[in-house]
Amino acid sequence: MASERILVVEDTPSVAKLVATHLEAAGYHAEIALSGPEALQRLATGPLPDLILIDIMMPGMDGFELTSRIRSDPRTAQLPIIMLTARDAVEDKVRGFEAGADDYVTKPFEAAELLARIRVLLGRSRAQRPPAEEVPSGAVIACFGLRGGAGRTVVAANLAIGLAEVCRTIVGACDLAVESGHLALALDARPAHSIDELIARYGVAFEQDVLEAYLARTDFGVQLLGAPRSPASAPLVSPEGARAVVSQVRRRFPYVVIDMAPTFSELTLAVLDVADLVLVVTTPEVAGVKSALAAIEVLESLGHPPEGLAVVVNTVFAGKALSRADIEEALGKPVRLFIPYDRVAFLDQLNRGIPVLRGAARSPAARAISEFAAELHSLFKREAKLVMGVVR
Ligand SMILES: Nc1ncnc2c1ncn2[C@@H]1O[C@H](COP(=O)(O)OP(=O)(O)O)[C@@H](O)[C@H]1O
Ligand SMILES: [Mg+2]
Repeated sequence: MASERILVVEDTPSVAKLVATHLEAAGYHAEIALSGPEALQRLATGPLPDLILIDIMMPGMDGFELTSRIRSDPRTAQLPIIMLTARDAVEDKVRGFEAGADDYVTKPFEAAELLARIRVLLGRSRAQRPPAEEVPSGAVIACFGLRGGAGRTVVAANLAIGLAEVCRTIVGACDLAVESGHLALALDARPAHSIDELIARYGVAFEQDVLEAYLARTDFGVQLLGAPRSPASAPLVSPEGARAVVSQVRRRFPYVVIDMAPTFSELTLAVLDVADLVLVVTTPEVAGVKSALAAIEVLESLGHPPEGLAVVVNTVFAGKALSRADIEEALGKPVRLFIPYDRVAFLDQLNRGIPVLRGAARSPAARAISEFAAELHSLFKREAKLVMGVVR
C-alpha cells in the first residue's frame, strides 16, 4: 500500500539511505533514525510507522535492546519489526526473535527479498489490526411536534428513564426547548450549568471532559444538559453550537433524548437533521392531528426518511378524545405510542418532582412509555447503533 510508513533504524547513513531509496521506489514512505534513542524519540513523539527495520549492530543501544524496548511499550508493542544485519549467525537470529523481531534479513540484502518480507509482514499486521476505531455514537431521539403543551417534555423525560432502565445504562438528555425548557423539572434535576453557557464559553470545539462538567446527574439513570436559565440567553444556543453539543453528547451515551420547542426554527432544523428518530408528539383532537400532519409534511419535504419518524399521541386532557384508529387513518401512519390521560400520574407527581415511570410505574401511561422504550431499544440494537455506555 503506497502510503504505508516504514521507519529505518540504521547507524550508517549511506546504508540507511540506500534502504530508504528502495522502500520509496516500492511506494512506501520511509523515515530514517540513525540510532536507537533517535528511533525511540520518534516513536514517542510522532505518528507510529506501520513497520520498523532495525539494524542489529549500532553503537550505544543495539538492535536487540531497541527491539525489546519497542515491545515493552504497549503503544508500540504490536508494530511489525524486521531486523537487518550483516551477520548471519544463528545465535543472532535467535536473540533477535527473542527480543521480539518478527523477521530477519541479512545484509547485503536483495531488495526484492526485503520488499517481499515487508509486504508479507504488513499484510499480516493489517489483517490482525482491529478495525479503525469507531467513534461511538448513540442514537439521538428528538421529541418534537408543533402542538404546544402536547407533553413533549414529559415524554422526553420518561422515555429517557425508560431507555436507561431497559438498557441498564446511563442515558443522556438534552434540553433544546431553549426559551422555556423545563426538562430539568421533569427529571427533578438541578443543573449547575446550562447549554448556553457551554456554547458561549467553548463554541463548537470542546472535549468530553468539558462536557462532563456541564451534565447534571439525576436519580433516574439520566444525565442532563439543561436549557438556558433565562429566555434572554436562548439566542446563545446557535444551530452550530447545538449540533456540536449533540455530537459530543452522543459519544457518551447509547441514547440521547432531546426535548425541543414546537417551532421549525433554524435550531430545530439543525437538530432534527442529526436525529436518528424524531418523535412527533401530539394530542388526540383535530388540531393535534392537523399539526402532526403539518410537522410530518415539513419533515418529509426536508428529506427526513419516513422510518426516522414516529407519531406519539399523548392524551393531555380529560374527556372525549379521538381514537387511535381514527388518528392513524387521518395521518396515514401508525401511532407508535399512545399515552392515556392520567392527571394524578402526570400533574400531581410532576409537581412533587417524581417522573411517571417512577411515581406511577404501574399506570397504563407509564407502561405504554416503558414498552415503547423497550421497542426502541430492540430496534436500535438490531441496527447495531448501540454504543456501550457505563453500566449503572
Ligand atoms: N398523559 C397525560 N395526562 C395528564 N397530564 C399530562 C399528560 N401528559 C402531559 N401532561 C401534562 O401536560 C402538561 C404539558 O406537558 P409538557 O410535557 O410540559 O408539554 P410540552 O413540553 O409539549 O409543552 C404538563 O403539566 C404535564 O404534566
Ligand atoms: Mg416542553
